[in-house]
Amino acid sequence: MTADQKPTASLPASLPIGVFDSGVGGLTVLRALKMALPREDFLYLGDTARLPYGTKSGATVARYALQTTKVLVDQGVKLLVVACNTASAVSLPGLTQAYPNIPVVGVIEPGARACAQKAPHGRIAVIATGSTVRGAAYQTAILRLRPEATIATRPAQLFVALAEEGWTDGPEVEAVAKRYLAPLMAEFPENRPDCLVLGCTHFPVLAEAIRKFLPEGVCLVDSAETTAESVAAELARRGLLKPGGAPGDSQTEGRVRFFATDDPERFAKVGEIFLGQPLSPADITLVDL
Ligand code: DGL
Repeated sequence: MTADQKPTASLPASLPIGVFDSGVGGLTVLRALKMALPREDFLYLGDTARLPYGTKSGATVARYALQTTKVLVDQGVKLLVVACNTASAVSLPGLTQAYPNIPVVGVIEPGARACAQKAPHGRIAVIATGSTVRGAAYQTAILRLRPEATIATRPAQLFVALAEEGWTDGPEVEAVAKRYLAPLMAEFPENRPDCLVLGCTHFPVLAEAIRKFLPEGVCLVDSAETTAESVAAELARRGLLKPGGAPGDSQTEGRVRFFATDDPERFAKVGEIFLGQPLSPADITLVDL
């Protein structure tokens, strides 16, 4: 979350929350948001035409983030969730500058908070995209909370391609997981960090395959739930919860509208694995940036 944002009295609380990712990975965050804030409406944009972000330079990803955000802002949103670690690492200052009235929540701070709470000895392994690892965004965020932490990071970009393909288990996924994880575990005493951070919103769907290559007792952490908590807290702080939208209120369930920059059919087919509920191509609007 960006620091020192001011109350946003002028934004109507009835507007939806905007969420974006490079593809379907951010649907893992949307799923947690829908659980935490069931009455809120959401707009979700997957920039599938330009995925992956994780192999691109920070400047390019920051530019893409501005373009995806513009589509959401033009529709009207009261808060923006950058449901992509790669984009969260490089785009928050530019987004806040471009849209000073719209609160922006990224996924890295919440992910760092989750692992800082769950690592008794402060031994934290992180897998993320190449771009996120290069920028050391997780180290910076974790060390702010746990200055004594021992952190090792590894790029695991192939997991993005596997997840976008809908390959969440099987020998290919396990071979890739083994290759990424064995050297990462070896960086910790007795090959055992306290936890492994899934520092990319595409990775939670591969959790079961990943777990097979972790020593017993190593916990898996992703930022979906803590991001949803941050969003709920930020909306409450600004008086922007949808009327009847606070947890526990019993009004009708919120609506989600989906946008993609490429093939709605493919987005629907793979997206339902991430969202955990059926999606039809008819639910997805194709947009051009
Ligand atoms: N899901 C995105 C993330 O959290 C990026 C995947 C990609 O486009 O490389 O980093």
